[in-house]
Amino acid sequence: MAAAAVKAMGLVKWFGEGDARTFAVKDVSFEAHFGEMLFIVGPSGSGKTTLLSMISGILRPDAGEVQVEDRKIWSMTNDEIADFRLNTVGFVFQDYHLFPRLTTAENVAIPLILRRENWDDAIKVAETYLEIVGLKERTGLTPRKLSGGEQQRVAIARAIVGRPDILIFDEPTASLDGDTGRKIVDFIKKEILNDRRCIIIVTHDGRIYEYADRIMQMEDGKIMNTVQGALHEE
Ligand SMILES: Nc1ncnc2c1ncn2[C@@H]1O[C@H](COP(=O)(O)OP(=O)(O)O)[C@@H](O)[C@H]1O
Ligand SMILES: [Mg+2]
Repeated sequence: MAAAAVKAMGLVKWFGEGDARTFAVKDVSFEAHFGEMLFIVGPSGSGKTTLLSMISGILRPDAGEVQVEDRKIWSMTNDEIADFRLNTVGFVFQDYHLFPRLTTAENVAIPLILRRENWDDAIKVAETYLEIVGLKERTGLTPRKLSGGEQQRVAIARAIVGRPDILIFDEPTASLDGDTGRKIVDFIKKEILNDRRCIIIVTHDGRIYEYADRIMQMEDGKIMNTVQGALHEE
């Protein structure tokens, strides 16, 4: 069988020291595969964002390792990790992390510009991705002029513009209405999974569960249960 896209091995993360120490993630192991859309669901505070941060090279675990394709990311140098974050993963943060002084097209073009692609070409590609997420008319505006849902879609366009092998979304539809949320997840599934990428989505949003290939349920820093196929909310 082909190597896993992402293999988390015994991940542990705590915050605070001594009596104040709390474990956000407690010995989590799982694999995610190419061509798969894996959902991670669980109550607020169960460790989902902390887990995503460790598998995407943002937050160093206190124990454990993450293998992506065939590389152990937490054994890499800082430069290698930066390169990994630029070229291998696309991350959509819960609170978007857009640059307020850049236009939406410039925000989306950032991964391409960082790879030293030509500015005008990068903006053109960014505009096509903004069209895909339904923001064709917003390319010249700064994020402040956009609604929360529109900012979310800019963040999604920025995560997919560089065509990374692994896409990680933290609550991508939380501020979108049901139709827009489904449309975007449907697009991600049809257009992005086509290329056999691996997509990991943290969500509470029952309206999009039907798109999951597999659902992992997290509680109190641990994976309690894994369900094949979509959960259907009655
Ligand atoms: N930077 C931090 N400092 C201290 N505690 C944190 C930090 N980040 C997360 N935590 C704690 O870790 C636990 C898991 O948080 P988080 O991963 O954000 O959960 P979720 O994304 O499932 O809501 C929570 O108890 C949270 O308060
Ligand atoms: Mg979170």
